[in-house]
Amino acid sequence: MADPAGPADLRAVEAAFRQQAEACADQGPSPLYALLMERAADDVAAGGPVARLLGDWRGHPVLDALSMRLLGAVHAEVLAGRAPELARHYRAAGEGGGVDAAVWPAFRGLVEERADVLRPRLDRQVQTNEVRRSAALLGGFLEVARSTGLPLRVLEIGSSAGLNLVWDRYAYRLGPHRWGDPSSGVRIESDWEGPPAAFDAPLEVASREGCDLSPIDLEDAEARLRLESFIWPDHPERLALMRAAIAEVRREPPTIRRARARDWLAEALAEPAPGRATVLFQSVMWWYLPESERSAVSGIVEAAGARASAAAPLAWLRKEGTRVESTDVELRRWPGGENRKLAESHWHGRWVRWLGDGRIAGMGSRPATWPRGPLA
Ligand SMILES: C[S@@+](CC[C@H](N)C(=O)[O-])C[C@H]1O[C@@H](n2cnc3c(N)ncnc32)[C@H](O)[C@@H]1O
Repeated sequence: MADPAGPADLRAVEAAFRQQAEACADQGPSPLYALLMERAADDVAAGGPVARLLGDWRGHPVLDALSMRLLGAVHAEVLAGRAPELARHYRAAGEGGGVDAAVWPAFRGLVEERADVLRPRLDRQVQTNEVRRSAALLGGFLEVARSTGLPLRVLEIGSSAGLNLVWDRYAYRLGPHRWGDPSSGVRIESDWEGPPAAFDAPLEVASREGCDLSPIDLEDAEARLRLESFIWPDHPERLALMRAAIAEVRREPPTIRRARARDWLAEALAEPAPGRATVLFQSVMWWYLPESERSAVSGIVEAAGARASAAAPLAWLRKEGTRVESTDVELRRWPGGENRKLAESHWHGRWVRWLGDGRIAGMGSRPATWPRGPLA
């Protein structure tokens, strides 16, 4: 572990970049970022411009996703049109043209030239909002709608920009299944294995609301660019999907409170909501909570579950992971408190393996080491 009071150990930084290079090669995958991460690790070892840029950075290189902070900071320059040479390489990689080794000198040169612009960006957490995760969550919402027959009161913790909070306004192509408004500007395509989810269940979303420790204001062009900067440049379809979802959310934005999950939920779940099925959902946010907040959130939800009834049921839908390969989609329901694993799904929702009915014990706790998957 790095000493939180001092700069990160450069050997740990180098190892973190190599680890992320492997993850980018396996998961996603992103040959472009696999190469850049590997070269950046070499540069750190050789004391080059990346080492100089990161020399005084404080934090944990793996847990704080330093490599993704750096690559995101550089990508923001590309997206802003301030790095034309690098943009050419990124575009070619995104168009399937392969990765030209000359991308590294262009990257290195930018790090050297723009250290003053890049360095402050490294102090902010990586923050993403991955739209295709809705493909894996959809079946959970439909299952609650089907089993309760009630309109849904949708609550999300860790909403980021709220792109998954409007999941019902998107059109889905999930293997052979179709769901949603075919005229939606947001078209989510994922591979689907296993039986269908309750795609024909009648659905009404009565209300929706979310919270985030630092919600992204989509009316702020800089904030939008920052959100886009964390998408890997050789995944242009993810960027296009995100932009479509941003446009949809801006058309009719949901309310997202700036609050810790624990504090917001204490209020949001204080009273049962009769005539509604309350669905609290979350995706890829549990990692970010300290153990104390996880326990507090679990306690608040359990207590609300104990107050739930058939007229005011509660469900907790989670897409979270403790493995490199994939996340689990779990659904816990009250009254009763039964917990089911509904699916496994790619971290970014590229595929969903729908299980239907398998039962599991509960959510795993944070493992000692951070998985190497594309967590953000
Ligand atoms: C990796 S992003 C995932 C965002 C979104 N759920 C998704 O799946 O795309 C994690 C989000 O959790 C938020 N977050 C972290 N700690 C939090 C907390 N204690 N309470 C609420 N949100 C938090 C972060 O600000 C970030 O927006």
